Amino acid sequence: MTLQAAAAQINHARSEKTLRPSIAGFFDEGTFTVSYVVHDPDTLEAAIIDSVLDYEAAAGRTSCASADRIIEYVNSNSLKVTWLIETHVHADHISAAPYLQEKLGGKLAIGAEIVRVQEVFGKLFNAGTDFERDGSQFDQLFSGGDTFCIGKIEGIALHVPGHTPADMAFIIGDAAFVGDTIFMPDFGTARADFPGGDARQLFQSIRRLLSLPDETRLFLCHDYKAPGRDEFAWETTVGQQRRENVHVKDGVSEDEFVAMRTIRDATLAMPNLIIPSVQVNMRGGRLPEPEDNGVSYIKIPVNAV
Ligand SMILES: [Fe+2]
Repeated sequence: MTLQAAAAQINHARSEKTLRPSIAGFFDEGTFTVSYVVHDPDTLEAAIIDSVLDYEAAAGRTSCASADRIIEYVNSNSLKVTWLIETHVHADHISAAPYLQEKLGGKLAIGAEIVRVQEVFGKLFNAGTDFERDGSQFDQLFSGGDTFCIGKIEGIALHVPGHTPADMAFIIGDAAFVGDTIFMPDFGTARADFPGGDARQLFQSIRRLLSLPDETRLFLCHDYKAPGRDEFAWETTVGQQRRENVHVKDGVSEDEFVAMRTIRDATLAMPNLIIPSVQVNMRGGRLPEPEDNGVSYIKIPVNAV
């Protein structure tokens, strides 16, 4: 039902120019992440999706150059930010959502299954009882099928587990922000070996996304280039993915996908920033509470990841 509603919304937005959002992608070469500012050209209301806080791991220092580029774009286009959306708890970069919220406003949102991720990582990092595992660090928890608005443009949340149990995709007008599910057709798909990840679920989530209309614009959360391609890219379509995706184009079976994903994931190193990222992002992008000397600390669980 939710997919039918999403397909209907996409087709409606394609026939009505005013229901198509303007979209700007901001690529962070340090973490290969794409952040998006999505806005209604009529009302200038905007959402920021998957922002990045710069983090220098060796020094334990955060900075805001990437987020400031977004602020500059928002201000120079006179946008009014109403949503700060995370597609999932990222393991490769720290979210800048709290910083952006302080500067620009907007409600911070993530998928409702975040509570499962908080449970797993709360245990791993031995977080105290002050760390609530109920998603209360966010202003809004989206379940699959929930709807929202950016100005006059409608959004639908889809639950797309597999990379993590809490991954969401967001259909906004005629565009879909698919987070870490599928990547560019020549690169393939996201890994499914993080805690709570599941290659079979990932396949099913991707095939649901690929049942949307062929012309649906897909916006990805990452790009790593691919053999033979020198430019970063992050926009594609359902039709192109169905014809060309090296992991999940039409004709690839679930079992074939699961076998490929399992073998490939076993060869992948952990992302450089997984330990700080998960610890901060499970708190809605906020650093752990400062200790009595006023300093926040990030823990490293030894031999546990
Ligand atoms: Fe991710």
